[in-house]
Formats: sequence, structure tokens, C-alpha cells
Amino acid sequence: MKNYRDLFEGLDIEVPLLDGSKARYINFDNAASTPAIKASQDALNDFLNFYSSVHRGTGYKSQLSTHAYEEARAVIFDFVGANPETHNVIFLKNTTEALNKMANRFPFTDQRDVVLTSAMEHHSNDLPWRRATKTVHIKLMKDGRLDLADFEEKLDKYADRLALISITGGSNVTGFINPYYDIAEQAHAVGAQICVDCAQLSPHRSIDMLELDDPRHLDYVSISGHKLYSPFGSGALVGRRDTFEQGEPDMVGGGVVEIVTLDDVQWAEPPDKDEAGSPNHVGAIAFAASVKKLKSIGYDNIAAHEAELTAHAISKLKEIPSIVIYGDDDPDNTANRLGVIPFSIEGINHFKVAAILGHEFGIGVRTGCFCAHPLILHLLQYGEEKAEELRLEMVAGNNGNKPGLIRMSFGIYNILEEVDIFIDAIIKITAGEYKGEYIQDISSGEFHPKGWKPEFEKFFSIEKYG
Ligand SMILES: Cc1ncc(COP(=O)(O)O)c(C=O)c1O
Repeated sequence: MKNYRDLFEGLDIEVPLLDGSKARYINFDNAASTPAIKASQDALNDFLNFYSSVHRGTGYKSQLSTHAYEEARAVIFDFVGANPETHNVIFLKNTTEALNKMANRFPFTDQRDVVLTSAMEHHSNDLPWRRATKTVHIKLMKDGRLDLADFEEKLDKYADRLALISITGGSNVTGFINPYYDIAEQAHAVGAQICVDCAQLSPHRSIDMLELDDPRHLDYVSISGHKLYSPFGSGALVGRRDTFEQGEPDMVGGGVVEIVTLDDVQWAEPPDKDEAGSPNHVGAIAFAASVKKLKSIGYDNIAAHEAELTAHAISKLKEIPSIVIYGDDDPDNTANRLGVIPFSIEGINHFKVAAILGHEFGIGVRTGCFCAHPLILHLLQYGEEKAEELRLEMVAGNNGNKPGLIRMSFGIYNILEEVDIFIDAIIKITAGEYKGEYIQDISSGEFHPKGWKPEFEKFFSIEKYG
């Protein structure tokens, strides 16, 4: 197995454990955010020497900054296989902002007013649509996969009214990859467009939006730098130029105009029209350096590496009797899904498992509903009645029974040895072999060990910079 750890700094950092010892930190929460890759950090540091305002600055550093910002835009076009003649790259802070902009700016009409999304989406690819227009959710199969028969039925039912299908490229909970090219073809056949939320897919698979005259093309995609090894506040919405040429920007102010009089405004051309205010060009440049590095590593290598980690983890987890894996638990099929594994341990609260992993083994995972509440309730097979009971309990401030799963998720720098340490930890937890006394905070549902003092300032504090 290849080792990509040299591409990162900080992977050998040791964190304190409950018993006073230390352990090298293991991060299995890459589906949330990935650490900074050196290429991104280096580009950021190098560029900061030249940092200045972009666009209308006249000095050399300003001109260089504008040039580097536009170079970053060109890198993102290439990264997603988009044509600058037909598409825009709009730099925003993340996928959430990108999809909100999509919902604010998409030209819905009285005739074409329906968005088709699914019950597996991250809230970022669901709530913006619900607020903007009529939103219909494609059902899921029992394991959380898209129900393609239900998709066909809904496509048929809403064909005349369908404006857009907005679907995730890959699930942040189950790791299922949706057949988005097939869906794109069917969307276009009924006169609709497609938006693919690539926040979760893009760190693991290459994206190709294809040319607009290809019936399988993607009209819009969203990506987030912090999931692509560049946590410096930049993401992008790549979308059809003709859409953003229409209408008014959703956020107005400096940068989005050609000319303003006291009575009139002439909007700028895209993408400026949709990047109100001074942009985070430092973040965009670092983001572009990161995706350039990922391309040079090669997505075939990235996918193969993560598939091996996932297969190993699934095989080992399946040997532990009290573990329930959700979604696809076939270790021989890991080339066809993302390295995101949701599971539970019978008889132990998911928040408690995460707390023990963190405090006694130095392992970071994520638990809860992963901003995909409908999907988690579906996977847990909570009926409507139980879901409503829980909802009322939670609304009343009691999160003691908050549903959720434990999620381990891989990045390119993870190695098999880390999976083995994780599996040993899980075996110990299932056998009750942990030291701390964990108390649940009913208001959040989370567990904390009694007597734990984090002493963060020993590791990092802003104090020393003052
Ligand atoms: C599938 C998916 N979509 C959207 C998002 C939201 O991304 P961001 O937090 O970068 O806005 C996430 C984040 O976890 C995600 O996994």
C-alpha cells in the first residue's frame, strides 16, 4: 500500500489521553474536513508575500494577486472538466453557500418550478431548495441507496414542471455514489437541468462536467476546499454561464456592478456579479494548489488506496458480533463506494463510543446524524411515530435519546495500521474495557468523562501571538 503521509504536516502529533498518557492522533473524520496538504499550505505562505487587493488595484502586488486569483479559477475549471466558454467558476466559502446561491439564483418559472432531490442529501442540498420552490424527495432503498424506480416515477410525474434535479454525487453517510450521469441524461431529456453536490465525491473521485452538447453533462457542481485538503475558507460553485447572466445577484454591494448612479445599477458580468465584496483570494489560491496536487497524485491512486482501507475496516468490523454496519457492508465492493463507514454498537450510545475513542485512544470520528437527519432515521428504520416522539423530546430540550450512528471516514494519508488500532479500540469498547466514567449531557446528548481537563492552551493558544 502506498503511503501519502509525507504530503502532510502534523500527522504525528500526539494528543493527551484520560489516563495522562499520549497517543498519536488518528483522524477518521475526513468526511467532515481534511487536514491541510503541504502544497496548499506552501502556496498560501508563498502567496502571502505578494498578497494585495484584487481587481482594481493598480500596484504590482495587486496585479499579481488578480493574476493568481484568475489562475486559481482556471485550475478549478480544469479540476471539474468545465468549459470556461459555457460555465462560470464562482468562488464562495463552501458547498453550503454554493447551493444556497443556486437556490437563490436559479431561474424558476411558473411552468418549471419543481426541484427533485433525494432523502439521502446533506441538509445543504435540501433546505435551500425547500425555501426556494416546490421540492420533491426521491425515496431510498432500505440500505440507503437511491430508489431508481421511485426516481423514474417522480421524473414522469413532474416531467413538465421539473426545473432541476439536485443530487449528491456521493453520500456523506453511507458512501454510496449516485449514478449522476444517467440521472443527468434523464433530466435533460425532460428539459430540466442537473446540479451535483460534489462536496463528498470530489476528494475521492475525479469530476468531469462534460460539454453542454453531451446529454450526460452536468450543469452545476459544488465543491468545498476544506474537504479537499485546503481548509482556508474557499469553495466553488461551477455552473452554466447563461444562468448567472440572468437575474440580479443574491448578494449586492461592491464588486458586483459595472456602474451605479443614484437611480440605477448596471450589474457586472458573471462571475463578478456573484462574488460580492472582497473575495477570499488567498483561500482560493491555496484551494487551487491543493486540487492541483490531488490531480498529480491521480484519482485512480486515491480511490484504490481508500478502497483498500475501507475493505480492511469493513472486514474487521464484521468480525465483531455487536457491530451493525449500515449501507453497503461488502468488503469486496469498496471500489464502487466512498470510504465512509457508518455503524453502531449494540447496547452502547453512539456519542459514548465517540467519547471513549477520543479520550482513551486518541481517535477522532463523528457521531450523530451528519446533517442528514432524514437519511439517519431511514437507516435506523424509525417509524413515523417513533420519529415524532423523539422529535418532541428533542424540541423539549432532552437529547438523551438523540438518534445517530458512528462514522469513520478515510483520507489519502490514512494507513492500515491506523485501522488496526481503531479496530482494537472498538473491540475493547464492546468488551467494556475502558477506564473513564462517562456522563451524558442531556442538553446535547454527548458524553464527557468525569474529571477531564482538556488543557488546550498547552497545545495551542492565540495568547502567544499578542
Ligand atoms: C454531501 C455533502 N454536501 C454538502 C456538505 C456541506 O459542505 P460544507 O460544510 O463545506 O458547506 C457536506 C459536508 O459535510 C456534505 O458531505
